[in-house]
Amino acid sequence: MHLITHPLDPAHENHSATIEGVALQQIAQAFDTPCYVYSRSALVQAYTGYRSALITHGMGDRSLICYAVKANANLAILNLFAHLGAGFDILSDAQITHPLPPTKKTKKIVFSGVGKSRAEMRAALTAGIHCFNVESASELTQLNAVAAELNTRAPISLRVNPDVDPKTHPYISTGLKNAKFGIAIDDAFALYQYAASLPHLSITGIDCHIGSQLLDPAPAAEAIDKVLALVDQLARANIPLSHIDIGGGMGIQYHADEPAPAVADYLAPILQKLADRKEHIILEPGRSLVGNAGLLLTRVMVTKPGEEKNFAIVDAAMNDLMRPALYDAYHEIIKVGAGDTAESHPVSGAAQAPEQRWEIVGPVCESGDFLGHDRKLALAEGDLLAILSAGAYGMAMASNYNTRPRAAEVMVDGNHIHLI
Ligand code: LLP
Repeated sequence: MHLITHPLDPAHENHSATIEGVALQQIAQAFDTPCYVYSRSALVQAYTGYRSALITHGMGDRSLICYAVKANANLAILNLFAHLGAGFDILSDAQITHPLPPTKKTKKIVFSGVGKSRAEMRAALTAGIHCFNVESASELTQLNAVAAELNTRAPISLRVNPDVDPKTHPYISTGLKNAKFGIAIDDAFALYQYAASLPHLSITGIDCHIGSQLLDPAPAAEAIDKVLALVDQLARANIPLSHIDIGGGMGIQYHADEPAPAVADYLAPILQKLADRKEHIILEPGRSLVGNAGLLLTRVMVTKPGEEKNFAIVDAAMNDLMRPALYDAYHEIIKVGAGDTAESHPVSGAAQAPEQRWEIVGPVCESGDFLGHDRKLALAEGDLLAILSAGAYGMAMASNYNTRPRAAEVMVDGNHIHLI
């Protein structure tokens, strides 16, 4: 199983599952459950995959990977990506002032979002970011006013909505005409002319993000064609752009039987279209950098067999991982060790309990509080489970609902475990 990029060794007869060099049992004992566990090597591998694809297409020195912080804003993860050379795609001013030493990163920040407050605009202008991805005419006007107050010019790029169907879950599909996101591609030329007329804006680029968890690159490639036509039209009208931001969106594997494309294969048809351009290329990947590098560890608290369904009530819940409740999202769930302290039989549950179908649910007072339906597992109370592919939009969307505390997060680096 490769749902967490290479370092997860599943449980077998006498051993608990390990991630890199560390037993998940050991992590659960040290940090309790629920607990998010990330693999440093999987994070590095995901980032390197993007870099290699860019280098292969001759864009190594004219591209910037702006990690989409919304996917997972843990500081250790941000620091790791910054160290590897990444910039950031942010959504609030907290993400400017909070994560990293400003001098190191602000020039590599793009500020996305369909609504930005004046305070956020001010903070970003003061920090000196790479650009604002602007999504409406009104935002141009407001940003121009805020920049005037600060006696500066705001670097901007327009997020265009190309009206292509990304073929993903409707809640995370953003590139169709009826979405609240972006500027309709047919209106964008006029809006660039308007932006050019505003004295406190400086036009730097164009941006396009059509949706998330895309497994087929064709819609993104189609969007690029539309974007490039506009870029050329703008150049002819004396509005040259220095960068093209192609957004994020690459999907990952969630289901053991439904493989996602490798990053090189997904990006090839997209990057091919950009290979002969002179503009800088910005990418905003989130999920594909962190999703498969993280899992959520949880323990079975209660088993409740029933006539129609068997429930396994675990100590993680919808407040820890909201994706199943919100999108009916599927995450693989595997048993990674038994709960009792007897190190001698860490998967002893397998010997005692037969495989059955289980509803894996949390203790929150909602029927929507489930983590997996109808999973075939040999479960006993106290068993340790791993919910896979939970590195993206897991902790980032966690809440304190039901007055539950947040899960701990740890990063495994070889034999070391760091509480992050
Ligand atoms: N850029 C923009 C403007 C975005 O809105 C997003 C994600 C990204 C980049 C990063 O997209 P990614 O590479 O992660 O697909 N909570 C949902 C996903 C929401 C995506 C929001 N925007 C989920 O759990 O599936």
